[in-house]
Amino acid sequence: MIKRVAVLTSGGDAPGMNAAIRAVTRVSLSQGWQVFGVKNGYQGLVSGDYVPLEARTVGGIVQLGGTFLGSARSLEFKTENGRKKALDHLSKAGIEGLFVIGGNGSQTGANVLHQMGFPVNGIASTIDNDLVGSDITIGVDTALNIALEAIDRLKVTASSHRRAFLVEVMGRDCGYLALMTGIGSGAESIVIPEVEMSAEQVAQTIQAAYKRGKSHAIVVVAEGAKNEVDTLSAFFKNYKTDLGFDLRAITLGHVQRGGAPYAFDRTLAARLGASAVEAMARGQYGVLAGSKGGEIVTTPLAEIAGKTKGIDPRLLQLADILSQ
Ligand code: F6P
Repeated sequence: MIKRVAVLTSGGDAPGMNAAIRAVTRVSLSQGWQVFGVKNGYQGLVSGDYVPLEARTVGGIVQLGGTFLGSARSLEFKTENGRKKALDHLSKAGIEGLFVIGGNGSQTGANVLHQMGFPVNGIASTIDNDLVGSDITIGVDTALNIALEAIDRLKVTASSHRRAFLVEVMGRDCGYLALMTGIGSGAESIVIPEVEMSAEQVAQTIQAAYKRGKSHAIVVVAEGAKNEVDTLSAFFKNYKTDLGFDLRAITLGHVQRGGAPYAFDRTLAARLGASAVEAMARGQYGVLAGSKGGEIVTTPLAEIAGKTKGIDPRLLQLADILSQ
């Protein structure tokens, strides 16, 4: 019978992580368990940095972006010694179960702990939406909305000056955020890691938009694309052919991660947090709580660890048609 559990947030923060901590805490309390928050992700696990979480401790955070527990990318946890220290601290504190709120790297870490025999369940949360095991992850919807709001504004000034903008959005290994931002904003071109696109091809899409009589052109570029915004900007510096539009570049970067969670992320966080706790309560460990086909499901961490979810390349064609 479990009596004490802990929860941590790890990797890049995502809007809705606080709502997930709150859900894990209150659903765990409803099971009669004591709950601890681990500070700064796996780093806090290695150093045994815990704070008790009560119903009131997690009050007033459901609407806040970021993570009040802090997050970090811990190199020490990746070592055998670091993981041993983490398990020693958990055992000394009498903690018998752990919830990991995070993305790809974080859930891979959770799987390692599970394989070492510690009861751990994951909660799918990353703005990248690159986790196998969940169609959508906590934070994606808010990050997308922030990117769209920014591009809506850019389009206004771009149209006034007849300019093209290269807009970099986050997404290290996965172009989902760029693809959906491109579709939602009506971008003329989308550059993602999964599909090779030369700088010359990008130039052609900008020229074609100018020739169609458009007042502006938007190119959404994923951070992880081979031709990311810096590379494209360097290419266009020496580009002699007339683009039609004057060109500017902007990187949205961490602005996308810092927003307050919108409705979708808050409710997803509530459902995934509850699902991870309920799974542990029935003795189901080593699983990720995610959403598939609109249903909340659990998938073994072993099946998702180290994998990156692909995108549907047909959506690039749709984006192209919609931007005509
Ligand atoms: O994993 C989420 C993410 O925002 C990626 O899109 C991005 O590449 C990375 O985190 C940035 O990490 P950091 O905040 O450590 O610079």
